[in-house]
Amino acid sequence: MHLVFVMDPVSTVIVDEDTSFALMLEAQDSGHRVDHCGAHDLCLRDGRLFARVRRATMERDPDTPIRLDRAEEVCLHNVDAVFIRKDPPFDRAYLWCTLMLDRVVTETLVVNRPSGLRAANEKLYACSFPELMPATLVAAGKDRIREFVEDVGGRAVIKPLDGAGGEGVMALASDDLNFNAIIEAATRNGRRVAMVQAFLPEVSSGDKRILLLDGEPLGAILRIPQRGDVRSNIHVGGSVVSAQIDEADRRIIETVAPSLRRDGLFFVGLDVIGGHLTEVNVTSPTGIQQMSRLDTQNYASRVIAWTAERV
Ligand SMILES: Nc1ncnc2c1ncn2[C@@H]1O[C@H](COP(=O)(O)OP(=O)(O)O)[C@@H](O)[C@H]1O
Ligand SMILES: [Mg+2]
Repeated sequence: MHLVFVMDPVSTVIVDEDTSFALMLEAQDSGHRVDHCGAHDLCLRDGRLFARVRRATMERDPDTPIRLDRAEEVCLHNVDAVFIRKDPPFDRAYLWCTLMLDRVVTETLVVNRPSGLRAANEKLYACSFPELMPATLVAAGKDRIREFVEDVGGRAVIKPLDGAGGEGVMALASDDLNFNAIIEAATRNGRRVAMVQAFLPEVSSGDKRILLLDGEPLGAILRIPQRGDVRSNIHVGGSVVSAQIDEADRRIIETVAPSLRRDGLFFVGLDVIGGHLTEVNVTSPTGIQQMSRLDTQNYASRVIAWTAERV
């Protein structure tokens, strides 16, 4: 296959953590051609989509995990698959990238489908399944938020809708003297809605990341917050232990999978705390390296094999 990864600069890749790197390395080791480009390297000419790519060579070298060859132009209608793995934020440049990639979806497999990426804000997508979620409010008004936090027992978390990796996620307690100030910061003085969610005490034993491939579970890991933090994300110091997929997880997966398949969200990371769905990560879900090490499996090879089958 000829694969193109649209992602952030290769200098951002952390060799033993990055999921995009694991997929690229596995694709290379399976004999496929792997190209890299950024969102700004796409070029639409009279309705045909091209990309200025550099062929990538991967190696488990912490200093230079990905080496790039000289730039060349490829027609994205003629490659086998495109992986969009740019990290959030979902800004205007990201939106344009998905709209340009729309041009090729009938000829080229795009993981994840650009229209699905647009449909699925990572926090709001989960709101289509209220029965799976903890009590959740999306609002900007201070009074509304205070009333909700009191309704759910006085403890909650507030998260920006466009955050990722734990950025901006804060604990709320109705008796905290900073309560108003936190809400003002999170909602930019009431001008932007934010997600407020009942606090799940089970978070201290971990936030489960379940990776799904075409609606089927690949595996799971548990991310445990460091002392003094509510956030379990690896990027902010969460530690990782192995995890099993239990009955509650299966119910969540079965409920969410048909929507994910319909939206072309093939490679997805669900976040589950205490049996509740809190987030559906679709832009650049991560965790495959940690999961593979803990389970002594090569999950990246499953993704590449699935891609080949699908192509
Ligand atoms: N309802 C909740 N109760 C307790 N902790 C939460 C809750 N929602 C999120 N968290 C904590 O905040 C972290 C980040 O939240 P999440 O919704 O996954 O956003 P993101 O990972 O995009 O920053 C989680 O890993 C978890 O540790
Ligand atoms: Mg998360």
